[in-house]
Amino acid sequence: MPSLLVSNIKQLVLAEETPRTTPVPGAELAKLPTLNNAFLLVENGRIKNFGPMAHCPERADKTVDATGRYVLPSWCDSHTHLVFANSREDEWVHRLKGLSYEEIATRGGGILNSAKKLREMPEAELYEQAQRRLEEVRSCGTGAIEIKSGYGLTAESELKMLRVIRRLKETNKMGIKATFLGAHSLPEEYRKGNRQGYINLIINGMLPQIAGEGLAGYIDVFCEKIAFSVAEMEQILEAGARFGLKPKIHVNQFYCMGGIAAAVKHGAVSVDHLEVVDDGDIAALSGSPTIATLLPSAPFFLNDPMPPARKLIGANLPVALASDFNPGTSPSGCMPFVVSLACIQMKMLPEEAIQAATLNGAFALEWGGEYGSIARGKVANFFITRPMPSLAYLPYSFGSNLVERVFVQGE
Ligand code: NIG
Ligand code: FE
Repeated sequence: MPSLLVSNIKQLVLAEETPRTTPVPGAELAKLPTLNNAFLLVENGRIKNFGPMAHCPERADKTVDATGRYVLPSWCDSHTHLVFANSREDEWVHRLKGLSYEEIATRGGGILNSAKKLREMPEAELYEQAQRRLEEVRSCGTGAIEIKSGYGLTAESELKMLRVIRRLKETNKMGIKATFLGAHSLPEEYRKGNRQGYINLIINGMLPQIAGEGLAGYIDVFCEKIAFSVAEMEQILEAGARFGLKPKIHVNQFYCMGGIAAAVKHGAVSVDHLEVVDDGDIAALSGSPTIATLLPSAPFFLNDPMPPARKLIGANLPVALASDFNPGTSPSGCMPFVVSLACIQMKMLPEEAIQAATLNGAFALEWGGEYGSIARGKVANFFITRPMPSLAYLPYSFGSNLVERVFVQGE
């Protein structure tokens, strides 16, 4: 592969001389390592070197001049539902007229609506739709991504989703990880007195085949009043652990139910959403390796309260940001907008939000050694901005596309 030199970079962001091996704790999120007037050298799809322009190599096979521009590591979007069958703007209009997300879900809309559409859609079409979404988020600067199942809710359709994710991995150079979310919603036929029937299907009818085919590395449960209880989640996580799947959990979106403490007890890599958080939740997270992943575009789209990011950062917890790209609560996977929202609505500083959406996102994907920063040996996934007066200008200019060129494995 030809070498690539990016020269005259106004500022190289998140340039790590000594790469971190653990997530960035809250108190350090604002300390963003940067290098002014820098170069970046890529060889064989990986970061070979970087440094001040004074030490810039004479030449490479290809050179890109980045005068006036910032270079950032690609976003690591650690929570998405990017594989889905068609949009749900009809439900959104119902919400505009006054129905709540929970009311729609209870009436069989929401996730069950997506599941119906997905069951009817051939695998090839599902893949085509997902591929287009993946290209869209890549153009926004995403370089590594987690994608969940959870709109199948039958063994056949959950496997179909996970095979689509596997095909995306095979046909794209972006980093992609898969999470099994069979416990996203209880299918209609199990709602009257047979909740355990569906949990048994997840445990005995889905997990063995998913693990057998190596289709997912993680297991997720939507722990919520309208979905699964803490006890049900624990049963599913115990089964997942027997197949080597690590938890990444949907929790505290609408209610505090003690799900965070349970997820931490089961060694969750991350707990995601956290629009509502109580002191017990913060105590459970303190000192644990579990990352608090915030998804501000979901409460933005639902007009719900934002996660208390300042409180979590104040407790020195590692906070990550992700898009939650899905047809029901976040029909956009645009990470620059997520970073803007984090600043505007959760009062995260630009440095904190950028670091949470890159390096901590990479750790929430358990890929901290490969993605999320500009460090020698890491995968060369990065983007060059348009000319900007400052780094804060990036989240400040919400809605403007300042991502000019995107590089995946140095291409
Ligand atoms: O993360 N909360 C659960 N799952 C998704 C929404 C799914 C949907 O409405 O389709 C979320 O917000
Ligand atoms: Fe989600």
